Amino acid sequence: MIVSDLDHTMVDHHDPENLSILRFNALWEAKYRHDSLLVFSTGRSPTLYKQLRKEKPMLTPDITIMSVGTEITYGNAMVPDDGWVDFLNHKWDKKIVTEETSKFPELTLQSETEQRPHKASFYVKKEKAQEIMKNLSESLVKRGLDVKIIYSGGMDLDILPQGAGKGQALAYLHKKLKAEGKLPQNTLACGDSGNDAELFTIPDVHGVMVKNAQEELLQWHAENAKDNPKIIHADERCAAGIIQAIGHFKLGPNTSPRDLPDLLDANLDHFDPAYEVVKFYLFLERWQRAEVETPECYLNNLKAVFSPTGLYVNPFGIEQSFDDVIGKLKDCYGDKKGKQYRVWVDQVFPAQIDSNTWLVKFKKLDQTGEGQQCCYTTAILSSKDVEPSQGLTWVHVHQTWMEGSTSDAKDWFL
Ligand code: GLC
Ligand code: MG
Repeated sequence: MIVSDLDHTMVDHHDPENLSILRFNALWEAKYRHDSLLVFSTGRSPTLYKQLRKEKPMLTPDITIMSVGTEITYGNAMVPDDGWVDFLNHKWDKKIVTEETSKFPELTLQSETEQRPHKASFYVKKEKAQEIMKNLSESLVKRGLDVKIIYSGGMDLDILPQGAGKGQALAYLHKKLKAEGKLPQNTLACGDSGNDAELFTIPDVHGVMVKNAQEELLQWHAENAKDNPKIIHADERCAAGIIQAIGHFKLGPNTSPRDLPDLLDANLDHFDPAYEVVKFYLFLERWQRAEVETPECYLNNLKAVFSPTGLYVNPFGIEQSFDDVIGKLKDCYGDKKGKQYRVWVDQVFPAQIDSNTWLVKFKKLDQTGEGQQCCYTTAILSSKDVEPSQGLTWVHVHQTWMEGSTSDAKDWFL
């Protein structure tokens, strides 16, 4: 299980190409999705979290923890954990928090979206933070509350119930998963700022502070955890630091398919449909970006990989033979050159349906500049008459627009 913060950890806001998160995505979908849990733990409210998902190539997590560990939701439908909400009501009264904080002129209220039932958030200058936190804490104790005050990113001050926070939310999840007999073998916590510190205090958790970690987190580490070998400070930024930690702690495969320069060389000793899907869409991105060095060679390979009798049903409901698809592919070589075009797949779930057939369900997304488009995709892949080293044969692909994707979908392809 990976529990990762988003801003400046999973998401690098200083990388317009989004390369490190895309590397992570390919690794996760090819090697981990089928038997691991992806948990995002962010300070953002549901509103700002959903906004970020539209801007950046983010995978869909199994569990989403938002508003600094005060809101936990499950699955694609983001079903809230009501048990957690009940627990947080203990010694918490938002009205009293509002009353007391209004007495501190140094506190500037954050936007309305970031004020949540169990979270009050402000901005405060670095120089003032320690003193304000102390005074505020005293005044809230006097009013009978038991709160936690967290400073993050050298500017954000959050007030939460004592039992809340990213660490407590993770401990709660661990307990819940254990009761269901689903406790993961390993947990890797990933973060960059003050509100992530708690994640590293949960028993049995491996932790990575990414290279670009904030001063307040590094200071917390120096004071509280510097002799703990289970916590590292990566020398790579953001999601690249997460991949580095997977390798450092030997938690599993740590080579992203995106790092393989020549996808044809990535041969296997067994059939691996998830990997096959990830690989194909990496190829498609490189193809449309004109980054394939030997296009002819790839095209011949594709003719072998796409069954001549195969069919593609596109998201407009139009049927095309795989022959037509390959013809179209020839035409679109380099059509996205210089356009910040990226392709990724999300929630790749293969199911074996007979001794040599797999049905793979996934979302295929692409992004050019700002806008994302997404299709639910089902593919049938076959191992009939091929060796693992040749890869599976694609025999059918069917796509359906995901809600909200159709508007500017003129140049959608596969
Ligand atoms: C996110 C939230 C903000 C919070 C900060 C630190 O930026 O939007 O409300 O203060 O994380 O936890
Ligand atoms: Mg962060």
